[in-house]
Amino acid sequence: MAALELSPTLPRHVAIIMDGNGRWAEQRGKFRVSGHKAGVKSVRAAVSFAHQLKLDALTLFAFSSENWRRPEDEVSALMSLFIAVLGSEVKKLHRNNIRLQVIGERSGFSAHLQRKIADAEVLTAANTGLTLNIAANYGGRWDIVQACRQAAVQVLNGERAVSEITEDSLNTLMNMSDLSPVDLLIRTGGEQRISNFLLWQLAYAELHFTNVLWPDFDDTAFSEAIAAFVGRERRFGCTGEQIRALLKT
Ligand code: IPE
Ligand code: IPE
Ligand code: MG
Repeated sequence: MAALELSPTLPRHVAIIMDGNGRWAEQRGKFRVSGHKAGVKSVRAAVSFAHQLKLDALTLFAFSSENWRRPEDEVSALMSLFIAVLGSEVKKLHRNNIRLQVIGERSGFSAHLQRKIADAEVLTAANTGLTLNIAANYGGRWDIVQACRQAAVQVLNGERAVSEITEDSLNTLMNMSDLSPVDLLIRTGGEQRISNFLLWQLAYAELHFTNVLWPDFDDTAFSEAIAAFVGRERRFGCTGEQIRALLKT
């Protein structure tokens, strides 16, 4: 059989719940924080893979609105890591024409981190390659509520009638409505739940769960997820190897 004569439909927007850092560290007798640090390498690899695949958007769940419940030292280590990574990676993202956006309730972050985020967004705003969304202090329910609040204000201001609040109009108020819809959600770490990530935006997404822990998530694991999507979408039955071969053409 001539492999891949028909070009498979690759996803345009992939979202990832990066889970399993803590268990990765615990398996090695290390502190959970070292799992988060190891996870940064996987973030870099996933961004580079998405860039090579020419995805429109990659959305990474970095910190949920519920993650504040974790021990204080883990939360503060995650915040420091976030600041450090923003500082060290933004120029590289910019050089690669990648646009960085942070989605989530950013008022929950320190003024320093908020400034770093705003600077990174401004620097990369005009880039036309991959859009990289980092979901931080993000919750799917929060996103729906903030859209509803905006709609309520529009009604109060007389800009819109209640009957004009529709799926389409509410959709324009959700985060990432300007991007292609999420085609594929990947969750690493073996759990099969959404954990209040994108709720509205996942309406038609394919879901892919893998037992690979986030620090071990590499190009092979990413290709397998893409292959599973391609197989489900168009039934071309691609393998991860074929997807990697596609990258080279
Ligand atoms: C995900 O890994 C990263 C964040 C939530 C920041 P976890 O820290 O949840 O890792 P596990 O699930 O405990 O292994
Ligand atoms: C989801 O992972 C949040 C992120 C990956 C940032 P969690 O580890 O926090 O989710 P639960 O607690 O297992 O649902
Ligand atoms: Mg977890």
